[in-house]
Amino acid sequence: MQRIRLEELKPGMVVAKPIYDQEGRVLLNRGVVLRDSLIDRLRQIGCPAVYIDVPLAEGIVLPDMLKEETRAKSISQLRKAFDDVQTGQSLDLDAIKDTVINIIDEVLANARILVNLTDIRTYDSYTFGHCVNVCVLSILTGHKLQLNELEMRDLAVGAILHDIGKVKVPKEVLQKPGPLTEEEFELVKKHTTHGFDILRHNNDLSILIAHIAYQHHERLQGQGYPRGLKDSKIHKYAQIVAVADSFDAMTSERVYRGAIPPVKAVATLREMSGDFFAPEVVEALVSTIAIYPIGSWVRLTSGHIGVVVDVNNKHPNLPVVRLVFNPRGEKIGTLTEVDLITVNDLFIESVFLPEEMEALGLFNGQAWPGTEG
Ligand SMILES: [Fe+2]
Repeated sequence: MQRIRLEELKPGMVVAKPIYDQEGRVLLNRGVVLRDSLIDRLRQIGCPAVYIDVPLAEGIVLPDMLKEETRAKSISQLRKAFDDVQTGQSLDLDAIKDTVINIIDEVLANARILVNLTDIRTYDSYTFGHCVNVCVLSILTGHKLQLNELEMRDLAVGAILHDIGKVKVPKEVLQKPGPLTEEEFELVKKHTTHGFDILRHNNDLSILIAHIAYQHHERLQGQGYPRGLKDSKIHKYAQIVAVADSFDAMTSERVYRGAIPPVKAVATLREMSGDFFAPEVVEALVSTIAIYPIGSWVRLTSGHIGVVVDVNNKHPNLPVVRLVFNPRGEKIGTLTEVDLITVNDLFIESVFLPEEMEALGLFNGQAWPGTEG
C-alpha cells in the first residue's frame, strides 16, 4: 500500500487502510473502490491523503505503533473530553486514565520497534490525532529516559491532554489555513494557560499534568510562551511533550501543506537542540523513531530507486530496501531486497517527498521519466 495525497486520488483506486472520523467511526473502509463522489466527500471533510493499494508498493504493510481500534477509541475518548470541557462538565478522568494505560501498554509492548505513525486526520480530527501521537512519542521518550510506571502515567495523561486549553480558543482562529495576525496568535498562545486552569483544579490529577499543558510551548533558552521559562524551570515532562509535539506537527501533512519526512524533522530537532529543546530529550526521542519509515521512497548511492520495506532497530539509517528502478530508471522485474546493514558502500542518498513520487505518475503505472515502457 502507498499513501496517496488527496489531489492525486483517482476513481478506481482501492482503499488499503480505513479512514476514521472524530468519533472514531469508520468513514471509508478498507477495500472500498474510490469514485468521484467519494473523492469530493474526502475533500469536503479535509482528508489530506488515503492509503491505496498500488502495484508498485504491493505487499508492503505499514505497521502502526497502535492498533487501529486503540487509535479510534482514544480519539473518540479525547473528543468527549474536549466536549465535556466545552460544555462546562467535569472531565471523565477514569476514562482518560484507562485510555492512557491502554496506549502505554501497547506502546511499551512495541517499544523495541522503531516508531511508524501512519494515521490520517481530517480537519475535525486533526487535534485529536495529534494528541494521541504526542502521547505515543512522549511515552517512548519517557521510557528511554527511564521514568518509572507512575511517572509514565502522569507524563502520558499530560501529553494526551496537553492541548485541552484549545477548547477555549475560537475555532476560526485554530482552523485558519493562512498565517495568523498578531492578535490571533495571542489568542492561540492562551491555550497553555487555559489548559493549566482546566486541569489544575482536579484533585484526582497530579499538578504536574496541569504543568505539562502550561509549559509545553516554553523553550530552553526562554524563547517560548506563556512565561518565557528557562532550562530546569521547565519541568522535564513538559520538555518531553514539547519535542514530541514539534516532531508530530512537522511530520503530519495538512490539506494546505505536505508532511516533512522524518529524517528531515529529526535534523531540524537536532539543529534546535540546546537552544530550544533539551538535548537529552531530543536524542531520546530520535532514538525511537524510524527515520526512514516503511513505505518511504529513497534513492540509493548506487542510483537505484526503491521503497523501504523494513527497518533495522540498531541502525535506523540502514533499512531494508526493495529495489524498484535500476540506475537507468528501468523497472526491475525480479523482487530484489537489500538489507543495507549487510552491504558495504551502499547508503541512502535521498528521500522522495510523496508529492515528488506522485508527480512522476509512478503510482498510476507509468515508467520512470525518460525510460521506455
Ligand atoms: Fe500546544
